[in-house]
Amino acid sequence: MWLGWLQVGAILASSVAVAKESGIAHSPPYYPSPWASGPGEWAEAYAKARQFVSELTLAEKINLTTGVGWMQEACVGNVGSIPRLGFPSLCMQDSPLGIRFADYVSAFPAGINVGATFSKQLAYLRGKAMGEEHRGKGINVQLGPAIGPIGRSPDGGRNWEGFSPDPVVSGHLVAETIKGIQDSGVIACAKHFIANEQERFRQAGEAQGYGFNISESSSSNIDDVTMHELYLWPFADAVRAGVGSIMCSYTQINNSYGCGNSYAMNKLLKGELDFQGFVMSDWQAQHSGVSSALAGLDMSMPGDTVFGTGLSFWGTNLTIAVANGTVPEWRVDDMAVRIMSAYFKVGQDKNQVPTNFNSWTRDEYGFEHALVQQNYRRVNEKVNVRGQHASLIRKIGAASVVLLKNNGVLPLKGTEKFTAVIGEDAGPNLWGPNGCPDRGCDNGTLAMGWGSGTADFPYLITPVEAIQSEILSKGEGNIVAVFDNAAKSQIASVASQATVSLVFVNADSGEGYISVDRNEGDRNNLTLWKGGDELIQTVASNCNNTIVVMHTVGAVLVNEWYDNPNVTAILWAGLPGQESGNSITDVLYGRVNPGAKSPFTWGKKAEDYGAPILREPNAGTDAPQIDFKEGIFIDYRAFDKNNNTPVYEFGFGLSYTTFSYSDLKVEILHTRPYTPTEGITEPAPSLGNSSHDFSSYLFPNSVEKVRLYIYPWLNSSDPARASGDPHYGMDPDDYLPPGATDGSPQPLLPAGGAPGGNPSLYDDIYRVSATITNDGKVTGDEVPQLYVSLGGKKDAKIVLRDFERFTLAPGQQVVWTTTLKRRDISNWDPAEQNWVVTKHRKKVYVGSSSRKLHLKARLPRLRGGDD
Ligand SMILES: *[C@@H]1O[C@H](CO)[C@@H](O)[C@H](O)[C@H]1NC(C)=O
Ligand SMILES: *[C@@H]1O[C@H](CO)[C@@H](O)[C@H](O)[C@H]1NC(C)=O
Ligand SMILES: *[C@@H]1O[C@H](CO)[C@@H](O)[C@H](O)[C@H]1NC(C)=O
Ligand SMILES: *[C@@H]1O[C@H](CO)[C@@H](O)[C@H](O)[C@H]1NC(C)=O
Ligand SMILES: *[C@@H]1O[C@H](CO)[C@@H](O)[C@H](O)[C@H]1NC(C)=O
Ligand SMILES: *[C@@H]1O[C@H](CO)[C@@H](O)[C@H](O)[C@H]1NC(C)=O
Ligand SMILES: *[C@@H]1O[C@H](CO)[C@@H](O)[C@H](O)[C@H]1NC(C)=O
Ligand SMILES: *[C@@H]1O[C@H](CO)[C@@H](O)[C@H](O)[C@H]1NC(C)=O
Ligand SMILES: *[C@@H]1O[C@H](CO)[C@@H](O)[C@H](O)[C@H]1NC(C)=O
Ligand SMILES: *[C@@H]1O[C@H](CO)[C@@H](O)[C@H](O)[C@H]1NC(C)=O
Ligand SMILES: *[C@@H]1O[C@H](CO)[C@@H](O)[C@H](O)[C@H]1NC(C)=O
Repeated sequence: MWLGWLQVGAILASSVAVAKESGIAHSPPYYPSPWASGPGEWAEAYAKARQFVSELTLAEKINLTTGVGWMQEACVGNVGSIPRLGFPSLCMQDSPLGIRFADYVSAFPAGINVGATFSKQLAYLRGKAMGEEHRGKGINVQLGPAIGPIGRSPDGGRNWEGFSPDPVVSGHLVAETIKGIQDSGVIACAKHFIANEQERFRQAGEAQGYGFNISESSSSNIDDVTMHELYLWPFADAVRAGVGSIMCSYTQINNSYGCGNSYAMNKLLKGELDFQGFVMSDWQAQHSGVSSALAGLDMSMPGDTVFGTGLSFWGTNLTIAVANGTVPEWRVDDMAVRIMSAYFKVGQDKNQVPTNFNSWTRDEYGFEHALVQQNYRRVNEKVNVRGQHASLIRKIGAASVVLLKNNGVLPLKGTEKFTAVIGEDAGPNLWGPNGCPDRGCDNGTLAMGWGSGTADFPYLITPVEAIQSEILSKGEGNIVAVFDNAAKSQIASVASQATVSLVFVNADSGEGYISVDRNEGDRNNLTLWKGGDELIQTVASNCNNTIVVMHTVGAVLVNEWYDNPNVTAILWAGLPGQESGNSITDVLYGRVNPGAKSPFTWGKKAEDYGAPILREPNAGTDAPQIDFKEGIFIDYRAFDKNNNTPVYEFGFGLSYTTFSYSDLKVEILHTRPYTPTEGITEPAPSLGNSSHDFSSYLFPNSVEKVRLYIYPWLNSSDPARASGDPHYGMDPDDYLPPGATDGSPQPLLPAGGAPGGNPSLYDDIYRVSATITNDGKVTGDEVPQLYVSLGGKKDAKIVLRDFERFTLAPGQQVVWTTTLKRRDISNWDPAEQNWVVTKHRKKVYVGSSSRKLHLKARLPRLRGGDD
């Protein structure tokens, strides 16, 4: 099933030709892999890393790059250690919303809720808090935040792990999250790079398990403009924010695997974006040894070719590949320098806590090497790392509730005579909040999707618990809850007695290795689960004050009931994490005035989104071809383009107060013209001159081998035997593209030059300001949004460029001042391979949603070089 790297290498070389001939998308080779250079804020860490790596032997460097194998150490991924220097194994742990596979940790709101807050500050605070927890458990790398999938298709299973299908919301919030995590001394890992937009077909084996006979992962075929203006955009922000690591993805891009794609990793990420940290593979997303090393991969996770084989594309093989001269040592030096730069950058040399938990057991005692059940000892110290994070979680939970409809019934007082709480989603999972592994079920209230992007709940406040306490603390109201969605007559009866009925409904999704109600990661439809629509109808036909609360992973179709006059209010609460009930109650009863905005569009029908996931293989048993034909037109850009009216637009959200907008001002800031980056790099630094004598890498006698563990050493001085690869020794010229091993100075890319891309892309070109006033009677939050129209025929009608969340007292005004940077008014020019400001007249808008653009102005033309 798994091809050896040579075969893959050979296939890669020939597949380019095949792809060219057959007309299927192909990814152009881009070599050599750019070496780190330590610019700007990386300088100090880079210098330390270089010094550190210069002192390592080849085997020690290889240890830093290669995982020791699935379930062989405490974390979901660990690399080898360097015992000679007392340097412990680096620990990588899921997830983007907390610590997976651990106890005494917090379950934070999901990324999509952070998206809904539109709050850079809350994104930072959540990142900081998550980082503190990871640090406290002795984790080096938190495997998050997620910005891919970005959410091309609303039915994509893992969209909720990220922030929004808008690249600017994603970009701002990923940057703040990364800063938060890394300020806590933990390396963040932005993932998945790139175009990993659906679960189905992401891995051939997984797809086969669902009855699809395909031999390779699907290919996301994306043109260069779409790549830059949409999918790469938030990664640029992540790199600019100093992210220490990036995870390459399962999917192929233009028929070349994400973790072996030189164009994606070498050119886009390390060339153009000047990424200085390290690229790690997704778990089992590596498909080749030499090829992936030269294409820009820096760390193999979890190290084994296939979980539990004890064999690796790297480890022994990478040592041999350097010793036999196929992979230049500078490339391995660069991998190690990148890994250690990230380590030093976040200060792990000063304050790293030893790992004190074990992913594979919640017991105190267990096996150090769980896979092979070796070395029974104390593995879980049960360290409580939750700190005071519950209050932040509750706050973000409330700050992310989007009020979609309110006929004046909210906020409630708590003194209502009879409150009905209806729906399974209001109550507990009868199997316990963690009763389904990796949250792989939809039992009880939904506060997290499923898959690796999860954490165990330390507790989960259900809506009904919080609502009941609220009502009992306020007076004498009745509160009656019915959790069984199928109990139609009981529900009708309770609803008909109620002064107010709170109906809780949900829709779930998750990662592809778990199927819930036959949703194999991705959602099968955009409707509510568990008969949610019918449930709402039943309540609404019996109660003229029906309030709907939705816990969903993304957009659902609400046509059947949203405009029913008996549905007096609608709230979207997303996936709020452990404080779910408290957060929604804060909003329902008015302690918190809702200020969130929908981070995605609510369409009238699924087709309106334009880019559904590919559901059937379309290339026989070859890789399914997912053509991103819609280009940049996803979510609101698609609705605008096709003149489809949504039910609730992107950026929309009500408040208990009202706001007005006035005084748009735009001025040109003096700025230097855009200067394409020129020049050449230094040659690849060579930090070692290791022996080419294979016998110098034999297993030392002193090593007590752990079974199926991945080491950097050889078991024979005959490299073909030690590798065990039947194709060992193939001539690299037969499969490696020209220049792949060239360590001489290389030209810099015009769009590159600094982390995040050409620094002058971030020059402030215009200053824009607008006044926002709270016209109502209560304090509330508003999120003014700045959109730009780039003016070209191929451009979206408008694109979001910035936003800010303000709290305003009644009558209070704020002048929001922001800037448009060069990147914000540029388009990607594929011929120039650079950003350009086109001649098309551009407009700027400030409004309260993507369709409530209260203020607008033309952007004054720029003098000089730009047009
Ligand atoms: C994919 O192919 C398109 C069309 O040829 C090209 O514009 C784009 O740069 C390629 N991207 C990658 C990552 O190979
Ligand atoms: C590589 O890491 C393993 C596991 O931690 C360790 O046993 C071994 O000694 C390390 N090898 C070297 C060369 O440091
Ligand atoms: C899958 O496809 C391959 C290649 O076409 C074929 O040889 C094999 O029999 C198929 N397997 C199944 C289970 O259909
Ligand atoms: C080396 O890599 C090949 C695949 O390219 C694999 O078949 C072999 O088992 C690996 N060897 C070791 C020792 O891990
Ligand atoms: C060098 O080593 C690698 C890793 O085992 C192997 O795949 C490759 O075939 C070897 N190349 C030569 C020319 O011996
Ligand atoms: C929990 O979810 C599982 C999987 O969907 C389902 O089979 C089971 O019936 C549910 N249990 C309860 C008590 O709801
Ligand atoms: C959509 O999927 C959910 C979850 O599997 C299911 O409960 C619901 O019945 C489906 N809706 C339709 C219209 O098929
Ligand atoms: C609204 O609720 C009342 C009961 O309060 C019911 O008589 C009426 O039929 C409902 N209207 C709709 C449109 O369901
Ligand atoms: C519902 O109907 C009752 C009785 O007719 C009325 O007093 C109440 O104001 C109505 N509530 C809403 C929200 O329309
Ligand atoms: C590396 O070592 C070899 C053999 O000892 C020597 O010939 C060569 O000059 C060295 N190269 C460097 C760059 O030090
Ligand atoms: C050495 O490694 C190769 C490749 O993994 C394996 O086939 C062979 O059995 C190993 N030999 C010994 C003596 O461990």
